[in-house]
Amino acid sequence: MDHFLYRDGALHAEDVPISEIAAAVGTPFYVYSSATLLRHFRLFDEALAGTDHLVCYAMKALSNLAVVKLLGEAGAGMDVVSGGEYRRARAAGVPGERIVFSGVGKTRDEMCLALEGGIRQFNVESEPEMRALSEVAESMGVVAPVTVRVNPDVDAKTHEKISTGKAENKFGIPIARAREVYAEIAGLPGLKAIGIDVHIGSQLTDLEPFRLAYQKVAELTEALRADGHDIRRLDLGGGLGIPYERSNEAPPLPLEYGQMVREVVGHLGCEIEIEPGRLIAGNAGLLVAGVIYVKQGEGREFLIADAAMNDLIRPAMYDAWHDIVPVREAEAGAVMTPYDIVGPVCESGDTFAKGRMLPALGEGDLIAFRSAGAYGAVMASEYNSRPLIPEVLVNGDQFAVIRRRPTFDEMLNRDTIPKWL
Ligand code: LLP
Repeated sequence: MDHFLYRDGALHAEDVPISEIAAAVGTPFYVYSSATLLRHFRLFDEALAGTDHLVCYAMKALSNLAVVKLLGEAGAGMDVVSGGEYRRARAAGVPGERIVFSGVGKTRDEMCLALEGGIRQFNVESEPEMRALSEVAESMGVVAPVTVRVNPDVDAKTHEKISTGKAENKFGIPIARAREVYAEIAGLPGLKAIGIDVHIGSQLTDLEPFRLAYQKVAELTEALRADGHDIRRLDLGGGLGIPYERSNEAPPLPLEYGQMVREVVGHLGCEIEIEPGRLIAGNAGLLVAGVIYVKQGEGREFLIADAAMNDLIRPAMYDAWHDIVPVREAEAGAVMTPYDIVGPVCESGDTFAKGRMLPALGEGDLIAFRSAGAYGAVMASEYNSRPLIPEVLVNGDQFAVIRRRPTFDEMLNRDTIPKWL
């Protein structure tokens, strides 16, 4: 459920008409609903109620400072994957003890930053990385709390570009080697192993792959405890999918996911961490665009929007579906027209959707791409020298620009022309 509904024929973000935001900031822009973000965080928090747990929002999904602050103040921890995300979490006021550092290639500088600023744990992904972390921690006179991300070799049954738990993926340490790796950690002066980490992929629409992976983690917990390791925390990653296509069957709910987690690992008495990103942010955001032209093609009509693949790469990159709706609600009985919805970028891949049924639209009309809160703005680029687009946060009847549209001068001034030219 989200808070983007039609009222009196006009699409609203909570209590604010989208057209009002468009008039204030211009199109295209991203708009996020605070109530939806908080609702989704709380669904996970409640799904694990009664179990010692921390929901660590995967900031990579949507890392605007205002969003991180909103969730941080609601009690969320953060899952970060770079020094940049770590800095964002801290700048938004999230204490170090609620920040988990994931990622396959943490640099020594990033390790140092997090050890200085405070960290809940590092999820290490390779032997060279854990040796480096031990050296860094030792040189600073501290001990770094770690989990090892294990690769359980489970098929997440999701798009291949966002599947991470198969042996052929670059992530984690093969689970079969885990006992050796924990034995090595026990001998490293700068590390203390406190748990196990796993993350098998994103946009999972079935609980079974999670269950299989978590069963393997549960067995490993027992084996490691028998080896004398103090395993008290399980980081179970993120990955629960969202309904992109409203006409399709909805994926399992956080509550069902939480029940499965209890069933599979509840008996171990571990503290549970989860790292949802998409389910918190995805349906909490829209990309709003204006129609530049409607162009008659050969047997089709192209709706040329002012948003493009550089603003929302998901359709081009993963063949992703986003529901696209008119901001002015179609009147009952309105004739629907199939449109190929495209952006102005000079690539055929700059196609958001083909043959989408919409009421007749023309220049200046507004459309909204649903489920664009996660992996939307954060994956944007300036391709075709199109400046990044603004982000707006709505809270009830108020809205604020949380990232303004840069000026063209700002974009140009980042380049430097060498003296010899
Ligand atoms: N934890 C780790 C270690 C991750 O790598 C990810 C996502 C998450 C948590 C959060 O997963 P989520 O709950 O959001 O599924 N750009 C792609 C998605 C990439 C996901 C990368 N890792 C897309 O637009 O579909």
